[in-house]
Amino acid sequence: MDSSDEDQELELLSQYRPRGGWSPTKPKGKRSDRKGKAKEEPQPPHLRRKGGWIRSRVVLYAVIAALAAIIIWLSLHRFKKAASKSRDGESPAWYPSPLGGTLKEWNASYSKASKLVAKMSLPEKVNVTTGTGWETNLCVGNTAPASEVGFPMLCLQDGPLGIRFADNATLWPAAVTTSATWSKDLMYKRGRALGKEHRLKGVNILLGPSMGPLGRMPGGGRNWEGFGPDPVLAGIAAAETIRGIQDEGVIATAKHYIANEQEHFRQEGGEWGVPNSLSSNIDDRTLHELYLWPFQDSIKAGVASVMCSYNKVNNSYACQNSKLMNDILKDELGFQGFIQSDWLAQRSGVASALAGLDMTMPGDGPNWADYNSFWGPNLSEAVLNGSVPIQRMNDMALRTVAAWYQLEQDNETVWQKPSAGEDARPNFSSFTNDRIGKLHPVTDDESETVVNMYVDVQGEGEEGENDHRVLAQKIAAEGHVLVKNEDDLLPLNVHGLSYDQQPKKDQNIAIGVFGEDAGPVQDAKWPNQCEDRACNEGTLATGWGSGAAEFPFLETPIHALQSSFAKESVTLITSLTNDVKKLPASIQDIDVCLAFVNSDAGEGFHTWEGINDRKDLHTQKGGDELVKAVADKCKQTVVIVHAVGPVVIEDWVDHPKVKAVILANLPGEKSGFALTDVLLGLEDASGRLPYTVGKSLKDYGPGGQIMFKPKPPDAPQQDFEEGLLIDYRHFDNKSIEPRYEFGYGLSYTTWQLSALRLEPIREKSPFPLPRPDLEQPPTLPTSVPDRATVDFPSNFRKLSKYIYPYLEPERDATPGDYPYPDGYNTLQQPSPAGGGEGGNPSLWDEHLAVSVTIRNTGQRKGKQTVQVYVSFPDNVIDDSTGGHIEFPSRVLRGFEKVEVPPGGQMDIRIPLTRRDLSYWSVGYQNWVMPTVGQFNISVGTSSRNLPLMVQW
Ligand code: BGC
Repeated sequence: MDSSDEDQELELLSQYRPRGGWSPTKPKGKRSDRKGKAKEEPQPPHLRRKGGWIRSRVVLYAVIAALAAIIIWLSLHRFKKAASKSRDGESPAWYPSPLGGTLKEWNASYSKASKLVAKMSLPEKVNVTTGTGWETNLCVGNTAPASEVGFPMLCLQDGPLGIRFADNATLWPAAVTTSATWSKDLMYKRGRALGKEHRLKGVNILLGPSMGPLGRMPGGGRNWEGFGPDPVLAGIAAAETIRGIQDEGVIATAKHYIANEQEHFRQEGGEWGVPNSLSSNIDDRTLHELYLWPFQDSIKAGVASVMCSYNKVNNSYACQNSKLMNDILKDELGFQGFIQSDWLAQRSGVASALAGLDMTMPGDGPNWADYNSFWGPNLSEAVLNGSVPIQRMNDMALRTVAAWYQLEQDNETVWQKPSAGEDARPNFSSFTNDRIGKLHPVTDDESETVVNMYVDVQGEGEEGENDHRVLAQKIAAEGHVLVKNEDDLLPLNVHGLSYDQQPKKDQNIAIGVFGEDAGPVQDAKWPNQCEDRACNEGTLATGWGSGAAEFPFLETPIHALQSSFAKESVTLITSLTNDVKKLPASIQDIDVCLAFVNSDAGEGFHTWEGINDRKDLHTQKGGDELVKAVADKCKQTVVIVHAVGPVVIEDWVDHPKVKAVILANLPGEKSGFALTDVLLGLEDASGRLPYTVGKSLKDYGPGGQIMFKPKPPDAPQQDFEEGLLIDYRHFDNKSIEPRYEFGYGLSYTTWQLSALRLEPIREKSPFPLPRPDLEQPPTLPTSVPDRATVDFPSNFRKLSKYIYPYLEPERDATPGDYPYPDGYNTLQQPSPAGGGEGGNPSLWDEHLAVSVTIRNTGQRKGKQTVQVYVSFPDNVIDDSTGGHIEFPSRVLRGFEKVEVPPGGQMDIRIPLTRRDLSYWSVGYQNWVMPTVGQFNISVGTSSRNLPLMVQW
């Protein structure tokens, strides 16, 4: 029996199987103002026929009753059929869950944690693993404390670009913008600042960074929360972000594990009402070389938490998939932290615990805010009756407590209390903006206290080094990608002229600024008027959903342009709407027109104009028409695109009067001045594309298309048949000409690369060294506690809805002979690819380094990103299977961004590791380096501009 069957059987055996129904859409209202029902339409006046209305009512009721019966029957039938239709059995079983505390990097933390956990009662251990229920405390996720031993409740909060539901915090450039900088330094600094802001607000666990979705489909609604579809760029960006966050003592979360590539059908029930979530069906090699790669980098960087995703993978829910959690994360990658569920991604009680889940969030059961946890009291009972072994329970608690020690959250000099005189609780509430409010908002505890202290965490000093606004602007500016710049129109100077020209006396330059995307939200002073930013109004600076945050302010392009151009020589002519009829009559006299357009997307629990996954890649709200109308009439046009990812710009990019195009991604709160930094050449144009801009959505291939209709309807299946060939790898291997390739972007200066040198460090050899032995995990008492230890304490004040670990007296928890899944007692061979944090340490051995000289041959200081791509040898045969191994034409394996003065030059050295030069062999279950044939190692400034090549 495979793990999916086991999961199902376990659910049947367990007392905690889903209690029917599907989780409703996640509450739309931020805070407590959720909209449960749609507003009722006014009823039309009743048509009464004399004497006949009673009869017609009876007939009507009968018809309604019959229809209802048919609907119920159809749904039951549908749900019954659903189970039989899902392709169970594609994800192998892997038990039991490896114990934490086996690697030296975590030794000290595990030794402290084991002492603490050894003293915890069973309810206290359960508290550490189970959220207290949606909106029962101040954060979007909260665990309960183990008070007797002094372990606090933990606050878990989104997220990847700022603190969701909080005040006075930075809304950073999105991850996709950050990876467009290709700057490791900025990635780290942004992570560090994000971590600091979360710490100062009292957040223990930051729900980010996101690296799944990776971006298989360019239309994926949440791609912008991550770092783009290349695993190496995404992996480096994720690792730098994690180092930054965790250097501030905040636990980072690598999410969403794994293959949650589209919003449609991501959840069972949920937004689309499908009885089974979509299953992402991935082969082992693709999983390792593509989707897992950034998670592996994250674990190597020491990430202390991983969040499993909503979807199924190979037809087993990601949060109860023993292969993914026990085998790959905990054995192969040596993950020592804890796995938490996405919000309601847990779909079973016992099965998920055995498969390796360590924490359930927000604690609720199968349905949103049902306060009917799969764990909580059910986990206490499962441990008492023997269906979850006490060793697993200990390990679940231990992993979280060890993560807490690992980040030194026990150390008050590192982890300062969020505000003087307060206990360790956060100093903001996710559920009200008022100063005074309920600590347990949704419960019957009506007592109130100060919940929002409005602590400003944006850093200090107007222009000071520690001012996060300065850093946010820098990242956003470097995340602007200049893709077209004919006649060197850009940069302009403050007089609106080419940068080396001065205005003649009394010369006045007219600059046109057109498009809603240049301005503020119409009729609203505040950029936060849409819940979770789920609408596209005014300039676009973030996508929407849990990965968005509250703007403390939003600097619009129009504001920055008004304050940046010289008033005496420039007149701005504006029309901040996409309505082409409102373009000024005098547009042909304008010297330079700036046209602003955008394309938005976001998480599935919100929809804007029918979108969360994008249905096409065009600009929205008539953007393409606006650009064409402006370019037709204006002398020269610069187009600025704010977008969540690639945009198809074929309608106008070759227009002879579209002279320049900037793909500005999602710049965050400092959008306007980041743009003027680039437009006016205060910064070089140094962003490079973290994705491919295709000429059509179709060009991304069958694998690049969102599944908008569930196929089959009851258990949607998405086969990742394209394997490794996503984004540029697909374009390259299928010889499809993109509009702009991955890695591409223009600079304001010119560059020359020369003197490529290869420095061999280690010989080629097929396998990593044998995996090192693990350390002994801590031993904890394994006796099952008495039933009485889980009784509600006497005089306990129970809050309504709050999830407690205690059992009501009538609950039976007698030990029984509960069967474990098939394969539970099969001795698993430890993975040869494991043995260290992030996998076998020898995967990180450097085998060669390439060095190159880069010269700035232009007149301006500039920044360039040198990129290294590897093409694997031809005709690689895998000895374990005798099969021929196919590779993408080339894959990014390293990069470095440098700043060089005009005329200056610099040597850059980029090492490549064993993993960089290996493929995942399904037969050997290990990374294998081809030893026959030649590697081609190319160096250049984009995936298609690779002037230098060397063989190895
Ligand atoms: C999202 C997660 C997020 C969580 C908590 C879920 O809907 O998928 O990314 O961290 O909500 O807000």
